[in-house]
Amino acid sequence: MADKTLLFHISDIHFGLEDDRSLDWVVQEIAEKRPAAVVITGDLTMRARPREFDAACHWIRSLDVPVTVEVGNHDLPYFNLLERFVTPYKRFQSIRRVVECPIDLPGLAIVPLKTVRRWQPRWPWSHGWVTERALDQTLTIIDRLPRGTGVLVACHHPLVEAGTRGKAWTRGGDQALAELARRGVLATLSGHVHDAFDIVKDTPHGPVRMIGAGTLSQRIRSTPQGFNEVTWDGEAIEVRVRSIDDVPTRDMQVKEVPEDALPPRRPEEPVAPVNTVPRVDPPVH
Ligand SMILES: [Fe+2]
Ligand SMILES: [Fe+2]
Repeated sequence: MADKTLLFHISDIHFGLEDDRSLDWVVQEIAEKRPAAVVITGDLTMRARPREFDAACHWIRSLDVPVTVEVGNHDLPYFNLLERFVTPYKRFQSIRRVVECPIDLPGLAIVPLKTVRRWQPRWPWSHGWVTERALDQTLTIIDRLPRGTGVLVACHHPLVEAGTRGKAWTRGGDQALAELARRGVLATLSGHVHDAFDIVKDTPHGPVRMIGAGTLSQRIRSTPQGFNEVTWDGEAIEVRVRSIDDVPTRDMQVKEVPEDALPPRRPEEPVAPVNTVPRVDPPVH
C-alpha cells in the first residue's frame, strides 16, 4: 500500500471579496501540514479585474507546494469583451504554468477538466459547460496514465447538481461524468457552489464520487468559509471538511478571565477620571 497522500482542495477565493482570516488560516495549515498538492478549483477573483488577479496570483505564487488551478467563470474578463474573446487567459500570465495543469503524484494523478466558456448560446455565461474538446483532452490524459493510477478530476463547476443551494447547470456534465465513471476515476473535485459536499452519483457506466469545496471568500451561502483535506491511502479517498468556524479566534484563546476583568480600553477613547469635569476646548475661529 502506498504512503498516504494529503491534498488541500480549496476553491472560490474571489479576490476582491476575499476573506483575509480564512486565507491566513489556510496558509498556516499549508505550512504546518505540507500537503503534496493544493488543488484550487476556480473563481480566483470577483470580476477578473487586474488588481484582483495581481492579488490572487501573488497569493498563489507564495504557496510553497505544488499547485494546480482551474479557471472559474469569475476569472474570464468581465468588462472587456474583446479581451474575453481574443486573449481570455492573459490575466493568468504570471501563474500560467499551473493553470489547467495535471499533477502526477506517486500512484495518483490530478487531471483538469475545463467547464467555463467565453460565451454560450444561453444566458448567463456563468453556467458550466463541458465541450467535447475539453472532455477529449481530459480523457486523453487519463487514458495515457499507467494502469492502476488513481485519478482525481479537477473542475470548476460540479458536473451535475449536488443538492447544494447554488446550482451549476453544467451542459454536457452528465455525459462527462459517465465517461469518468467508465474510467473508474476516484472522484471529481469542484467548486462554484460555495458549499462543501461529498456524494456518489450513479451514471450509465457506474457510480462516481463528487467532492465539492466551499469558499474562502466573503460570499458564503449556507456554510462558513472552509476547504477540504483529501487523503489518498492507495485504495480509498477520505475527505475532511475544514471550517473556519472550528478555528478559535484570538478572543477565544484566552484561557482564564479574572473575575474583575474590565473590557480593554481603546487608546483613542481616554476615560475621564471620576468626579472631574471633562475639558472643553475653546472654539477655533
Ligand atoms: Fe464562486
Ligand atoms: Fe463559479
